[in-house]
Amino acid sequence: MVVKEIIRVGNGQMPTVGMGLWKLEKDLAAKAVRDGIEMGYRHLDSATDYANEAEVGDGITQALNEGLCTREELWVTSKLWNTDHRREHVRPALLKTLSDLQVDYLDLYLIHFPIALKHVPHNQIYPADWIYDLEAETPKMELDNVPISETWAAMEELVEEGLVRNIGVCNFPTALIHDLLTYAKIKPAAVQVEVHPYLTQERLLRLCHDRDIAVTAFSPLGALSYVPLNMAKAADTVLDEPVVRAAADRLGKTPAQIVLRWGIQRHVAIIPKSSNPKRQLENLQLFDFSLNDQEMADISALNRNQRFNDPGEFCERAFGTFHPIYD
Ligand code: A2P
Repeated sequence: MVVKEIIRVGNGQMPTVGMGLWKLEKDLAAKAVRDGIEMGYRHLDSATDYANEAEVGDGITQALNEGLCTREELWVTSKLWNTDHRREHVRPALLKTLSDLQVDYLDLYLIHFPIALKHVPHNQIYPADWIYDLEAETPKMELDNVPISETWAAMEELVEEGLVRNIGVCNFPTALIHDLLTYAKIKPAAVQVEVHPYLTQERLLRLCHDRDIAVTAFSPLGALSYVPLNMAKAADTVLDEPVVRAAADRLGKTPAQIVLRWGIQRHVAIIPKSSNPKRQLENLQLFDFSLNDQEMADISALNRNQRFNDPGEFCERAFGTFHPIYD
């Protein structure tokens, strides 16, 4: 069941449901990607930081060699890591990603965070971490003074060169999107942010839709991804909410399908991650039912502005560096 529903991104068409690749274990990644494409995924959401791009590339190559789809039918997104924000580092970073993913262009390349960190040469550590020197007596984040305008100009050159079809940003708050629009020669085509029923992001979505910028929701299932990382508690799961359960019962779907369907009915793309084939398939089966207005409103009303992926918190907890970006 190939995902045919799309969201416009610039001149391109991004399938509404993509396969999230964050935390997809290296040894499972190639098979998961190849099998995911066979299952019907046509949108892959990758990033340098996920430390599995070479394996994802193996999966893509297998799928293409087997004729499961063509490169043109696939939508491949990746992201520039924080240590490569300087103009001279952007193109080499993209070339490394292209080589790992074994493709000759990306459909979408995103600035991963509005955070510039001191460059780490790729031949020293790849991918680089948040921490500059893991061997240091007191490992910490080392910030670099690079304005986003410099990084964006280098991203625009990649479009002009035909290496990427669209560019955009991740984890940007509205004020930074406004600022970027003041100087961008090539407008950001897409913004990727955390969105789920506990963080509905009404205003950011409205701004992006008003400006014709596509939105991709990461962590569309909410806390689940973060429980094993100690960044959320099991009790934070939205899947046990009575309004989600009631819709699941009415429609004969799983709570996860209800939460994902709520996401796409808000006209955003979603990129659920699963390394389990049964759940991967479940997360694609979202197009033979719909939530009614009351169910949409009830699920949206669960919002509590609860962000699980916040560098202002995890960087301080993990690396002792206080660096908030959303306030
Ligand atoms: P698993 O990989 O074992 O399936 P997110 O995309 O929000 O990061 O969510 C990923 C998390 O949600 C992972 O822990 C994943 O576990 C789990 N998950 C993905 N799909 C489903 C589903 N349909 N039902 C329940 N849990 C799911």
